[in-house]
Amino acid sequence: MSRIVFLNGSFLPIEEAKVSFMDRGFLFGDGVYEGVGVLGGRLIDNEAHLTRLERSLREIRISNPYTREEWTRLQEELARRNGMTEGFIYFQVTRGVAERDFVFPEGAAPTVAMFTQAKSIANAPAAETGIAVITVPDLRWERRDIKSISLLAQVLAKQAAKEAGAQEAWMVEDGYVTEGGSSSAFIITKSGSIVVRPLSNAILPGVTRRSLLQLSREKGIVLDERRFTVEEAYDAAEAFLTSASNFVLPIVTIDGRSIGDGKPGPLTKRLRQLYLEMALSPAAGVA
Ligand SMILES: Cc1ncc(COP(=O)(O)O)c(C=O)c1O
Repeated sequence: MSRIVFLNGSFLPIEEAKVSFMDRGFLFGDGVYEGVGVLGGRLIDNEAHLTRLERSLREIRISNPYTREEWTRLQEELARRNGMTEGFIYFQVTRGVAERDFVFPEGAAPTVAMFTQAKSIANAPAAETGIAVITVPDLRWERRDIKSISLLAQVLAKQAAKEAGAQEAWMVEDGYVTEGGSSSAFIITKSGSIVVRPLSNAILPGVTRRSLLQLSREKGIVLDERRFTVEEAYDAAEAFLTSASNFVLPIVTIDGRSIGDGKPGPLTKRLRQLYLEMALSPAAGVA
C-alpha cells in the first residue's frame, strides 16, 4: 500500500504530493505544526492539540483553514487510509505560496500538509529500559510557546544527543532546564514530588504534560511547578519526559550520570500507566 498524505484538500500518494518552491514554510520556516498520538485507532488528547494549533496560528496571524470537526475528520481519514492504529499524526500549516518577501503576502492561501508515522507507543522498548539524555544550551528564540516549524535549534540539540549516544537533549537556560528537544522535562525529587517548569513563553505548553498534571492532581500526587537546575536533575530520584509520540518515557541517565538507581523509577512507571489507562479508556483525553 502506498503511503498516503494530505496536502491542500487532497489525499495523495506521497510521491504525488508536491509543495511549491516558493512556499513560505520552505523559505522562511513561516508556519506552525502539531503532532498527535494515536493509540487503539484513537486520537489522544486531540482537542487540546487542536486548541494549541489554533493558538499558534492566531499568534502568527494565519487564519485556521479548518474547523475542529473538519480537522478531526481529516486526521481520522488519513489514519484510516494508511491503516494506522498506533503512531503519530503530524500536521502543519504555513503562510502559503508567494514571491519571497518578509512581510505577509496579500491573499495567499495557507498550505496544509499532514502525514502519519506508524510507531509502537504502548509497548515501546524505551519505556522498559529508559533513555539517556544530555544537556545542551537552549539556543532558541523567545516565543517557544508557539509550535513553530522553525526547529533548527532542536535539530542541532537532538543531533548532539545522538552523537553522544543519547535519545533526547534537555535544553538549558541560565542554569535551568527549559524542556527537551521535542518533549517536556520532569524530575521527581527524593521526597517524591514531581517538579516541572511552569508554563511561560520559555517552553511549549505540552499537551501530554497538561494531561499528566491533571491525572496526577486527581491521584493526589504532589506537584511542584517550578524551574529546576541541571544539578537538581542529576540529584533527582527519577526523571522522565512527556510527548504526544511517547506519552511518558523514563530517563535513566543525564549527561552520563545515573538517575536514582539507573533504572526507570516506580513513580514514573505509575504515571506512564495512568496515562496509558487514560488513553485507552473510552473517553480518551482529559477535559
Ligand atoms: C519543544 C517541545 N516541548 C514539548 C513537547 C511535548 O509536547 P506534546 O506533549 O504536546 O507533544 C514537544 C513536542 O513536540 C516539543 O517539540
